Amino acid sequence: MGHFTTRRIALAAAALISLAPAAFAQAPIVIKFSHVVAPDTPKGKGAERFKQLAEERTKGRVKVELYPNSQLYKDKEELEALQLGSVQMLAPSLAKFGPLGVKEYEVFDLPFIFKNDAAFRAVTEGPVGADLFKKLEPKGIKGLAYWDNGFHIMSSNKPLHHVADFKGQKMRIQSSKVLDAQMRALGAIPQVMAFSELYQALQSGVVDGTEGVPSNFWTQKIFEVQKNITLSNHGHLAYAVIVNKKFWDGLPADIRATLEGAMKDATTYANAIAATENTTALEKIKASGKTTLYTPTEAEINEWKKALMPVHKDMESRVGKATIDAVYKATGFAAPK
Ligand code: LMR
Repeated sequence: MGHFTTRRIALAAAALISLAPAAFAQAPIVIKFSHVVAPDTPKGKGAERFKQLAEERTKGRVKVELYPNSQLYKDKEELEALQLGSVQMLAPSLAKFGPLGVKEYEVFDLPFIFKNDAAFRAVTEGPVGADLFKKLEPKGIKGLAYWDNGFHIMSSNKPLHHVADFKGQKMRIQSSKVLDAQMRALGAIPQVMAFSELYQALQSGVVDGTEGVPSNFWTQKIFEVQKNITLSNHGHLAYAVIVNKKFWDGLPADIRATLEGAMKDATTYANAIAATENTTALEKIKASGKTTLYTPTEAEINEWKKALMPVHKDMESRVGKATIDAVYKATGFAAPK
């Protein structure tokens, strides 16, 4: 081999080595995280915190792409997309698991089942929460965390003070049989609808009213198309952060452990801000002057409870008595007399 050829080989090798870091650097693992609410909500902010921590702590080996506001998928479609692996992470409300066949999750929709956030967390942070996550695994879904978003308020163009006020009102609900039974027990007509369609449906009068949390009423501008809001706190809204199980199990063990840590910290954050975010949203709604906020009297709430408590018993065959009893036990629930 002549001197010239040896030199060319050496130069080519040097060029290859200098290119190596770029050419052979691993492409990041992409996690598409889709959800239906605005970025400026407890769920939206929790998702942003997870992205930040996951990317920082894996030093860029993981990239989290956030898709808020149903921009990729609506309620039901997003679960299908997760099962197919088109997205890797979601945070649907617990009410969304019933239609998937995991009806036990509808226990969270029972009216007045949680007296405060601590009662809800006693369930999700204990054996009931863990058992419910196991029930998702045969569906190809792994549960990572529960995120709290506080209590439901009720709205319509009509004031909703007494149970009789609900008569004939078309009320949007999430696709939960318990929520359906709840609205019927009040004398209303429930209508299942995707979250992304709610504002328009209220504006055009397709439905008369809805239940929801203040952070969503504010960010989706529900208060602009509803004349009356009753601060009933009759139901609870929470989410499960879930992943495609095959994707998750297939991650390198060190990455998975780092992501679990990031999720743990994002969960602490999301749960810590939920109550204040909702209080602030309510204050902004009030300040807008576009709707009337009404705090029901104790007698009115007792009237609602009287109409709604039979839903617990009626839904036993759907949700499962064992699950309802386990939640009662974890929270020290006592049915009002
Ligand atoms: C809904 O459909 O009302 C909720 O799932 C919205 C949310 O906060 O995810």
